Amino acid sequence: MATETDIDTEGAISSDEEHAHSHENMSPEEEHAHMIDNFKKAGKLTAKVREDGKRLIVPGESLFDVAESVEKFMAEAGIRMGFPANISLNNAAAHFTPEIGCETLLGEKDVVKLDIGGQVEGCVGDTACTIDLSDEWGKMAECTQAALADAIALAKPGVATSELGTAIEERIKAAGFKPIENLCGHKIEPYALHAGIDIPNVRTPPSYVLQEGDIFAIEPFATNGSGRVHDGTQVEIFSLVSGARVRMRQSRQLLSHIATQYFTLPFAERWLVPNFKSRLLLSSALKELLNAGALRPYPVLLDTPGSIVAQTEHTILIEHDSALVLTQP
Ligand code: CO
Repeated sequence: MATETDIDTEGAISSDEEHAHSHENMSPEEEHAHMIDNFKKAGKLTAKVREDGKRLIVPGESLFDVAESVEKFMAEAGIRMGFPANISLNNAAAHFTPEIGCETLLGEKDVVKLDIGGQVEGCVGDTACTIDLSDEWGKMAECTQAALADAIALAKPGVATSELGTAIEERIKAAGFKPIENLCGHKIEPYALHAGIDIPNVRTPPSYVLQEGDIFAIEPFATNGSGRVHDGTQVEIFSLVSGARVRMRQSRQLLSHIATQYFTLPFAERWLVPNFKSRLLLSSALKELLNAGALRPYPVLLDTPGSIVAQTEHTILIEHDSALVLTQP
């Protein structure tokens, strides 16, 4: 799942405060090793779900069924959702997940980005692939794979994230497309999918230098559109920012449900429906939490109408002298 470059992540609840109790008998070294194991497990299982999910992306299949199936595969694999299955079509780059009652079927010309994440104790494996049902945009999808491979080959301690962005930009431009400049990969920490440091998809000023033990998602996006995304009107994905004061009883219930079920990881409105008697009350409670600043919305991110966007993403671990791809089966 992508980060917009201008997002302010301040005010997010610290995972340390809330979750330290579960590891209180571990030394810092043991705790770090345990965290890396969790990331490895999440990455491997999420990659398997990605491969199974890919096979569902065929013309005529409903987006809602694909999303629900992918999320069921996660449960069957024994991991929890790190964020809702993103199934973004054509000029939608990211953050689309079907709402309850969504009747959209995949069309024969759709270019589909399947972006999924599974988590173990908040450690998310974040991975995406592009399925081109049109058979017309294979080169675009391939250049995002190549750009990702270039960035992974460069990634090791001492390398600046800006160098990865430069490599990604060069590869995508060489294929005749534009990188999306305001979408980024991101550092991942337990319960923090976007942990404050970006991996740009274009050349940027010198920046954060990679360190051994870092976990990053790298996600090149290529397009024949403008190379910049803007917020669409549809929002189905949210995450908890902080425990703001809320007035309505329904909103307080919803806030505590979100805090206990998803903590600070993204969730879909669709996931909440079974827990609330009235859809209307649920949506007004969500609105109140949004207005109170307690939730961060993830609007669907769009390039220009009629354009096509492709994406490939892996989560990697920075090792002693290289990077290990965690999201492979
Ligand atoms: Co991501």
